[in-house]
Amino acid sequence: MGIRITPSILNADLADLRSEIARIPSSDLIHLDVMDNRFVPNLTFGLPMVECIRKSTTLPLDIHLMIAEADRWAPGYAEAGAESVTFHVEASDAPVRLARELRRLGSRASMALRPATPIEPYADLLPELDMVLLMTVEPGFGGQSFLDVMLPKIRRTRALLDAHGGDIWLQVDGGISEETIDRCVQAGADTFVAGSAVFRADDPDAMVRALKTQAEAALPA
Ligand code: DX5
Ligand code: ZN
Repeated sequence: MGIRITPSILNADLADLRSEIARIPSSDLIHLDVMDNRFVPNLTFGLPMVECIRKSTTLPLDIHLMIAEADRWAPGYAEAGAESVTFHVEASDAPVRLARELRRLGSRASMALRPATPIEPYADLLPELDMVLLMTVEPGFGGQSFLDVMLPKIRRTRALLDAHGGDIWLQVDGGISEETIDRCVQAGADTFVAGSAVFRADDPDAMVRALKTQAEAALPA
């Protein structure tokens, strides 16, 4: 199982994103949190910003849409050249149609779940997906504490993914740091969003590398 670190730029200097992204070249992807003040009580940026970021880095873009009406807006991010587009299943009327559309447009299709949304009702959708994102905080803000109560859901999702086969990534997002990443690896996650842990570090790229090394060491033998 490969380990991927995808730093969230939510806690970076948003007025100087080109430099901020240049500080984390060891990242596997760059996690971009799009919020609309409807699906979550916070507002960040949308497609024009992502289009500019697309032109300013060759690192793969990992778009996390925390927006209502995902079916309407998500395909635009795939068209903009994002390698991965994540929609919240709670915000999609037709997740299968949307996932197929994202793949048709050349992006990986990814489905996110809020902490209170169980994975089991969506087990049959796995063949349509390239990644499942499990929120490990309530979505909306960086810098929150990891919710340990999510560990059983990570384990159950890993079991479903293993039973399905294939290579679907399991991403966790919220409160991931050197203190919490081991538990997530052991529960079965392989793709780690880290916002404040990376951008509050003195050397953000060293933190990206340290998290990756630590996660790889925590993998079951
Ligand atoms: C929160 C966002 C996260 C956030 C993570 O709703 O989806 O990606 O930026 O930040 P940390 O790592 O600080 O919890
Ligand atoms: Zn996120």
